[in-house]
Amino acid sequence: MDAFLQIKDVSKRFGGFTALTGVSLDIAQGERFGLIGPNGSGKTTLINCISGMLRNESGSIVFDGEDISRLPAYLRTRRGVARTFQVPRPFASMSVIENLLVPLQYVAHAKESEALDILGRIGLANKAETPTNQLSQVELRKLELARAVAARPRLLISDEAMAGLSGSEVDEVLKILFDLNAAGITVIMIEHIMQAVMRFSQRVVCLDAGRIICEGTPAQIIENSDVQRAYLGA
Ligand SMILES: Nc1ncnc2c1ncn2[C@@H]1O[C@H](COP(=O)(O)OP(=O)(O)OP(=O)(O)O)[C@@H](O)[C@H]1O
Ligand SMILES: [Mg+2]
Repeated sequence: MDAFLQIKDVSKRFGGFTALTGVSLDIAQGERFGLIGPNGSGKTTLINCISGMLRNESGSIVFDGEDISRLPAYLRTRRGVARTFQVPRPFASMSVIENLLVPLQYVAHAKESEALDILGRIGLANKAETPTNQLSQVELRKLELARAVAARPRLLISDEAMAGLSGSEVDEVLKILFDLNAAGITVIMIEHIMQAVMRFSQRVVCLDAGRIICEGTPAQIIENSDVQRAYLGA
């Protein structure tokens, strides 16, 4: 059976700098997948290539049987690919619910009931009317997730939704991602908080300097000497 998301030999350069070199990986429908790697290893660049913010110059990205690597970002969103941004960037002058009505317009006639339903699932229902510039850090991260969910994704890519959060806040975000996955959404989690990504993921890939250096179960990744070297810089 073909994978839900097939990344085949993807490379990406920025001028003379090669950010991704021959990255290939398959993700199954319904999977909880972890993507790790030191700062600057290419995780966000890979997500940008999958979501269409960037074009990979070689290789292909096949989602649900269709090569999406030449489609503009909004069409990939319509196919069911949604991502969060590492630095949350809501529409600052709008309330929380208004921020959800915008992505909803892209996939459907924007309905307040659906936006409220999503806020309930993400634990932000009591903040619907709050201007986004009054949100705490964890609430901003939840809004980022809610905005992605408003695009009705089948694949959700979370780019460091937990960075800078306290232990209990990390648990809250982890639960949200588990719940979304249980509702049928395939999830790719990018995270530096190892304890969280290892708890969440069924399979993990580690990038280093734009190449995959290890792929396996969380236990295999933790024990891998290449991964330890990449993180320790030894
Ligand atoms: N638009 C760009 N132009 C030039 N270089 C870029 C661009 N985007 C990323 N890079 C470079 O590509 C490399 C990979 O960056 P990327 O943001 O993908 O890393 P990352 O693994 O997401 O890191 P972090 O964990 O810090 O978020 C880095 O060296 C970065 O400086
Ligand atoms: Mg990044």
